[in-house]
Amino acid sequence: MSAPTTDRRADAAAQPIRKQRERVFSGIKPTGTPTLGNYIGAIRHWAAEQDIYDNIFCVVDLHAITVSIEPRELRQNTRELAALLVACGIDPARSALFIQSHMPEHAELAWILDCVTPTGWLNRMTQFKAKAGEDREAASAGLYTYPVLMAADILIYQTDAVPVGEDQKQHVELTRDIASSFNHRFGETFVEPRPIIRAVGARIMALDDPTKKMSKSEAEGSYISLLDPPAAIRKKIARATTDSERTIVFDENRPGIFNLLTIYQALGGGETPEQIEAEFAGKGYKEFKAALAQRVVATLEPIQRRYAELTADPATLDALLAEGAARVRPLAQRTVHTVKERVGLL
Ligand code: TYM
Repeated sequence: MSAPTTDRRADAAAQPIRKQRERVFSGIKPTGTPTLGNYIGAIRHWAAEQDIYDNIFCVVDLHAITVSIEPRELRQNTRELAALLVACGIDPARSALFIQSHMPEHAELAWILDCVTPTGWLNRMTQFKAKAGEDREAASAGLYTYPVLMAADILIYQTDAVPVGEDQKQHVELTRDIASSFNHRFGETFVEPRPIIRAVGARIMALDDPTKKMSKSEAEGSYISLLDPPAAIRKKIARATTDSERTIVFDENRPGIFNLLTIYQALGGGETPEQIEAEFAGKGYKEFKAALAQRVVATLEPIQRRYAELTADPATLDALLAEGAARVRPLAQRTVHTVKERVGLL
């Protein structure tokens, strides 16, 4: 991927993004190398639809510190993730890409929204329950109010739509509720955003346990990372849990093979389930898994190549992130100013 020219960057920085199209905002946490689940459920759609929307994408480092993370690891993950997003096709000329903590307005708005969000709404968040685990008392207050910071990320840009995987649906719905209740109490201030969740691949499951979501916080063999070398990808797929049946069909009651077929379909060129089933009719799991591994390797290989180029030039990456923040800053500042007026802080 070629870096944007200096002139183009200067132009982009000079103007806030104008809203002639619907605005899309989405974010991703720098808690480890993103997985194939992140790519299929979210990133590939962000990249593919950049000409349809006004795009804002964010590496949400403030969300990453809601759980314990080594400072050095966070610093490294944040830059790695930004580079990976560009390598996946997020084009800085068409999308604003930046680091959440570079825009302090997100945290400022989050505090105000914290003060108008009933704790009862937060108590219903299933992700908090899952992440806090057994010892809920020990979970950070940040983990508890995590969805409100996410609402601030979205609402600060007057976002129309939020492309996410299935697991973020509840958070986007909460965001709508917060927007609607704020508007009701203080007057029209926020756009009420809708989630965009795809029919195929919105919930990619773990390879070793297809009843659980694929996640970078689980065991190594359970996920494919976007930086896994081909040999690791082949090995993980070869070991993926299936079942003792023989047919290769999209049957939701057979979660292992269903998940692998979903990955195959999502990374393909638009084949229908029927076409894929026909392709593997009479063939065994081994053959299917080899074809799947080949498809995953072919998808990730160019991404990994671009990633290597980008990380070899950290100054260009830094400049591009600074430019992304500069483009969206006027928008964020405008919203925060209005919100402060509405609640009586100005
Ligand atoms: P995060 O970092 O966990 O995941 C980033 C995106 O990847 C999707 N995803 C998946 N999709 C399909 N299958 C999977 N196994 C899978 N795992 C993850 C997620 O749904 C998400 O779209 N809270 C968010 C980050 C965030 C955010 C925001 C998102 C912060 N502020 C504002 C949208 C808008 C999160 O933890 O995503």
